[in-house]
Parts: sequence; C-alpha cells; structure tokens
Amino acid sequence: MTERHSHPGLKSDLYSDFKDPEDWLNPQKLSAIFGPHADKNGNNKEGARIFIGITGGIAVYKVCTVISRLAQAGAQVTVAMTESATRFVTPLTFQALSGNPAYTSPWEHLESSDPQHISLADRSDAVLIAPCTMNSLASIVHGQTDSVVTLILSAINRKTTPVLIAPAMNDAMWTQPANQRNIQLAQADGNIIVGPGDGWQACRHDGTGRMSEPADLIQALARAL
Ligand SMILES: Cc1cc2nc3c(=O)[nH]c(=O)nc-3n(C[C@H](O)[C@H](O)[C@H](O)COP(=O)(O)O)c2cc1C
Repeated sequence: MTERHSHPGLKSDLYSDFKDPEDWLNPQKLSAIFGPHADKNGNNKEGARIFIGITGGIAVYKVCTVISRLAQAGAQVTVAMTESATRFVTPLTFQALSGNPAYTSPWEHLESSDPQHISLADRSDAVLIAPCTMNSLASIVHGQTDSVVTLILSAINRKTTPVLIAPAMNDAMWTQPANQRNIQLAQADGNIIVGPGDGWQACRHDGTGRMSEPADLIQALARAL
C-alpha cells in the first residue's frame, strides 16, 4: 500500500488565520493546510492528495473553484467524473485546473501496476464527492460500482481516509423518502455529509438541496484531513 501522508489538517493554531469566510478561498492561506510541508525530519512532502468525484448535477460549475483553489494551494488533486457529469462541464476543464488527467471511465488510464485505480484510491488523503446526485448517493450507499467515481470510492480505505459527500439536487428530490433513507445510511457508514443549503435552485424552485458553496467545501475538507 502507498505510504500515506500526515498532513497538518486544521490545527487550532491554523484556524485563527481563517476569520473571514473568503479566507477559505485564499490559496496562500490554504497552502498551510493543503500545500507541501516538511515532515519532522525536514524532508519535503508533496501537497495533500485530494480525490474529487464529480457526478451529474448542475452544481458541477462550483467545483471548478474548489479544484482551482486547492491546486493553487499546492494540493495534488485528482478528478473522476461520471458520464452524466461530463455533459455539464468537460473533463478538459478539470484536467487543466487540477494539472492531472480527469478520469471519465473505468476503462481508461489503466496501468499494469494499477489496473482498477486501486492505488489512486490508496494514495488519497481525503475524498470529496461533489456534487453528489440522488442517483450516485443511492449507488454509494448500496455498494454499487457502476461509474468510475463509485468504483474508485469502493477502493478507498475507510479506516484512514475521510469521505465527504456534498449532495446537490432540487428540493423535491432531496425530500424523497428514498433519498432521506440514503442520507441516513451514508452517515451511518461514516461518510461526512456537507450541506446541502437552502435557496434558489437551477430548476427555479426555492428550497433545500443547493450544494454547499466552494468555501464551505474547502473548509469541510480542511477539518476532515
Ligand atoms: C439539466 C439537468 C440537471 C440535473 N441536475 C441534477 C441535480 O442537481 N441533482 C441530481 O441529483 N440530479 C440531477 N440531474 C439528473 C442526473 O443527471 C441523472 O439522475 C443522472 O443519471 C445522474 O447520473 P450520475 O449520478 O451517474 O452522475 C439533472 C439532469 C439534468 C438533465
């Protein structure tokens, strides 16, 4: 198994640097948490390794900001997208923002040493699924590996790697009994649910189900590391 990093995470002395919500979008401040740092022997480590799984909701555009700021802060960001997600924003955008290939199928970027993206999962310090559709949430809680996102997630070591899920859907989908059951199952399995928030939705409704804002997603990742 790949050696895991010990990243500084959000220690209380670092927290005092984040007084304004906008500070969570400031790459310079974020680099203290996500950027390369020296270990106790003075050796330089690479930045935090963050795996971001993107599924097919309109809130995909907000994740561009998350990835851009994390990459600027020195994090090693790897993105995987479901087929539906690629209909909203192209993989090229995420490849350019992260500086790494964006995975869109279980059948690409296969290496003989990593035929099922297991080592990609192994070397992640934290995982964020954002936006997480009602469909992908259902797949995750039922152990289905029908997209590259849920396949990689299935190889994550839950004892060492925090998994954050940011649901995004309209208010009717959010309150569906099946979806509410799935949220409870996801929490019981140890996933950290971030949001959703209330407000205006792309479907012209006003209600619960908006994905959390980029600054809130980055803050949640910092707390989880
Ligand atoms: C314009 C449009 C917007 C959508 N937005 C959402 C959304 O915000 N949340 C959601 O759960 N599904 C949304 N859907 C439906 C999902 O894309 C659909 O359920 C898809 O099968 C999800 O696949 P995935 O979970 O593999 O990405 C949207 C569909 C369309 C056409």
